[in-house]
Amino acid sequence: MAYETVLVETRGAVTLITINRPKALNALSSVVLTELIEVFAAYDADSSQRCAVLTGSGDKAFAAGADIKEMVEKSPADFYAGDFFADWTSKITRVTRKPWIAAVNGFALGGGCELAMMADFILASDRAKFGQPEIKLGVAPGMGGSQRLTRAVGKAKAMEMCLTGRMMDAEEAERGGLVSRIVPHDQLLEDALKTAETIAAMPPLAAMMNKEMVNVAFETTLDTGILMERRMFQVLCGTEDKTEGMTAFVEKRPGNWTGR
Ligand code: CAA
Repeated sequence: MAYETVLVETRGAVTLITINRPKALNALSSVVLTELIEVFAAYDADSSQRCAVLTGSGDKAFAAGADIKEMVEKSPADFYAGDFFADWTSKITRVTRKPWIAAVNGFALGGGCELAMMADFILASDRAKFGQPEIKLGVAPGMGGSQRLTRAVGKAKAMEMCLTGRMMDAEEAERGGLVSRIVPHDQLLEDALKTAETIAAMPPLAAMMNKEMVNVAFETTLDTGILMERRMFQVLCGTEDKTEGMTAFVEKRPGNWTGR
């Protein structure tokens, strides 16, 4: 299916999703965000696909934020009546039970930073820049930035970034725990796709449950999280892929996964 603002390509079991508004630095218009939800839902429903990569087109930006030109004329009534950002704040994370990676190739600002933080992890180009500059527009993060950034880098850095609007470069983001790794700019996509292929080659139920387990850590107490982890481990122990994985280890051969 063709989309207006998003390119979708499958490479084996990996889906590559590219926000395609390079002239507007991939600003997140309503159309982009609505299409992204559809694309991620389709990825999640497609049993041939095991991991996805989201990136921005062009050389400069992952996404420079929600589309300011679209918001400039909107009244509080428009925002409230449409419950602006409600779907975009959590729908992508709800429709994707399978893993996906944000490959941040430049500016990830405002909604762009918030979108990247919805990913299971972020790989950053050495030119990536992260920020929540909404305060400079007289507003504040609206797609989860104040919450997810604080969980990722802690209160001190998140508060400073939200209050000053300053950007964090890739090195600071890696030091702060916002990104898993920094990759040279021209190798970012290749590295992200290779990482996605590694994940795609894992037993799929185990990949989904590993993702779920780590995410539970942000939503619950330590005791409850550890209990859930143990239960998920026990469920995985009943799968064909567990028998295959452990037998393959003993027989010194790669596992052959059925996803059952
Ligand atoms: N919305 C709409 N258009 C945007 C945009 C945005 N968020 N960011 C950049 N653009 C457009 C510019 O208007 C410009 O378009 P024109 O050529 O038609 O003038 C084009 O992209 C290129 O941008 P610049 O000329 O500004 O490029 P630059 O290299 O000089 O600066 C930048 C780059 C520092 C990222 C700068 O564009 C910028 O500050 N962008 C806005 C960042 C921002 O404030 N983001 C937060 C938005 S609000 C939000 O996201 C709310 C939320 O929490 C969900």
